[in-house]
Amino acid sequence: MKQYIIKGGTPLRGEVTIGGAKNAALGIIVAAIMANEPVRIENLPDVDDVRVLLDAIEGIGAIVEREDAHTVRINGALINALSVDEDAIRKIRGSYYLVGALLGKYKKALVALPGGCQIGSRPIDQHIKGFEQLGAEVTIHHGKIDAKAETLRGEHIYLDCPSVGATINIMMAACMAEGKTVIENPAKEPHIVDVANFLNSMGANIKGAGTDAIRIRGVESLHGSEYSIIPDQIEAGTYMLAVAATGGDVYIQNVIPKHLEAITAKLVEIGAVVEEFDDCVHVRADHRLSYANVKTMPYPGFPTDMQPQMATLLALSEGTSIVTETIFETRLKYVSELRRMGANIAVEGNAAFITGVDGFSGAKVSAPDLRAGAALVMAGLAAEGFTCVDQIQYIERGYENFEEKIRSLGGQIDKIDSEDERAVRKFKMKVS
Ligand code: UD1
Repeated sequence: MKQYIIKGGTPLRGEVTIGGAKNAALGIIVAAIMANEPVRIENLPDVDDVRVLLDAIEGIGAIVEREDAHTVRINGALINALSVDEDAIRKIRGSYYLVGALLGKYKKALVALPGGCQIGSRPIDQHIKGFEQLGAEVTIHHGKIDAKAETLRGEHIYLDCPSVGATINIMMAACMAEGKTVIENPAKEPHIVDVANFLNSMGANIKGAGTDAIRIRGVESLHGSEYSIIPDQIEAGTYMLAVAATGGDVYIQNVIPKHLEAITAKLVEIGAVVEEFDDCVHVRADHRLSYANVKTMPYPGFPTDMQPQMATLLALSEGTSIVTETIFETRLKYVSELRRMGANIAVEGNAAFITGVDGFSGAKVSAPDLRAGAALVMAGLAAEGFTCVDQIQYIERGYENFEEKIRSLGGQIDKIDSEDERAVRKFKMKVS
């Protein structure tokens, strides 16, 4: 098993470039198979979730050609199977987009129920409700979503909660339905807008993505396109908070500052300095930061995917902070790991009551999921002494070249085999 070994205490400094948004990429890769012509996608993040999804679409007959690590050509003209059920695909969340895309294009899909991080019950009732309202018959059996329709007809669909997955899934199916669909109370995350823009670049007719109602007029077919994915808001936010936690000074390049507003606002509130440029943010913190209360909310609120990183930063800040998780019910599991490093956090229900400590001390900890894993690495970078983070396969699902990017900022981190004592000793000698 691989793990990260970290020697903390070095402020991150320099410049880091953010990759394409993972969650937009998952929607866009699947949407690409809806065209019968080649689609070229740029700024693709080179992370495990993307690799799994590309393999899955190749498995049903799409032609996938990697031009380089960040560029792919996809042609969905030769899709020959509408059933997707490999072990790998069950592990990722974005697999559910295959239902919307295949149902929209072929009016039929059989896809394994999605996996993803264990951060709550993660139902898909809103996806199913949307497909059914469009005229599909949807059943779940033997762990698979089975959706079929004679025809799909545009409808007025009201989502009970602004689900990212349901919004993208329904948008994809509705793109090739007959007539007009309106999705009310949709999610408004930047990647919803990106997937809509991509579908429009293939000839779809979607208006209002990012607002309170998305209006879609169905088209008969979609055509080839070239598209570049937006930068990853969560990757950028993770570096912003890691810089603040280590008392560093970093220019974070290739970002859309508007997408980072909720994170920037909290950083400024607790005393960090954030300067915004056209496609860059400069973050610096030269003194101990102070407390804040944070509540996760759908975009443009504070992102749930930044909650563990923010709680980690507040655990090092002065005073008492409350972090409330409103989106996923079991997303505070990492707290017990942070306590091993000296954090003083009490959890009651969906709230973490944090009393800031002067510093963390390195310990052996385990990543419970993707974003909490990144938060533990951040904690290790800020801690005194050595930290080992295992179960890093979660982190590799969503952060490209994580350890290399951190090293380029002066962070002392290596990826090693957890059984390899010599590698541990070598790292310790190198950084001492
Ligand atoms: C996506 C993101 C994930 C992020 C989350 C919220 C991907 C691959 N994953 O996950 O990183 O943390 O958005 O920003 O893009 N819900 C229902 N019924 C449904 C669907 C959702 O009740 O049918 C609830 C969920 O339980 C949760 C809330 O809606 O409480 C938001 O979930 P959703 O936006 O759907 O998250 P995901 O698409 O799974």
